[in-house]
Amino acid sequence: MNSKPIQILPSILSARMGYLAEDCRHALEAGADGLHVDIMDGHFVPNLTMGPDILRAVRAELPEAYLSVHLMVMRPDLYAPRFLEAGADTVLIHVESPCDLAATLAGIRASGRRAGLTLNPETPVAALTGYESLLDEVLIMTVHPGFGGQAFLEAGVPKVAEVAEKLPAVDISVDGGINAETGARCVAAGANVLLAGSFLFRAPDMRDAIADMRWKVESARKVD
Ligand code: DX5
Ligand code: ZN
Repeated sequence: MNSKPIQILPSILSARMGYLAEDCRHALEAGADGLHVDIMDGHFVPNLTMGPDILRAVRAELPEAYLSVHLMVMRPDLYAPRFLEAGADTVLIHVESPCDLAATLAGIRASGRRAGLTLNPETPVAALTGYESLLDEVLIMTVHPGFGGQAFLEAGVPKVAEVAEKLPAVDISVDGGINAETGARCVAAGANVLLAGSFLFRAPDMRDAIADMRWKVESARKVD
């Protein structure tokens, strides 16, 4: 039985950038457990988003919020310290990033924050081998990273189950195309952290969307 708490974290990639503070506050008031912040460098993925100053601004507005930062960058070893300093609680780096992953994960933890490794859709779970003792979280991508609003890739579900079997104590997050239904399938397989952008930010009422998602994913876990 999986007893890790369910976390629903809206991805601010889908927030209105001109009203970022307002949209972040609204998401938390609507029942989100924190916020997911997608950092893209235009090299690791073909899109550019935010730098550490934006995270610092979000942190200044929301000193108590849980902030999960997803680094889709070529050199997370260079940028993780900048995002930690700007207020990240968790830093998720990609196993495909060409840098010293073990040292980067250890550095994140040495700052007292949580560290995680992310797997792209084509990357097998075996790529986590050797890093197990450095992980608080594993993120299974359920789209090819780079853009919000893509269709959920079902092949992520058995990978979630494989990670849950291999690393029962770590949080398992899923990212990309997550809604109440796809989220429920991931939670039934062992995920407990749901990262969702367009589904939550485009919902007519985010409070209803989060409540519905929470009820459906909790139910999926009970029948597991
Ligand atoms: C994709 C990002 C996701 C993105 C998800 O590269 O990592 O966090 O915001 O967006 P949706 O939920 O719209 O697929
Ligand atoms: Zn993300």
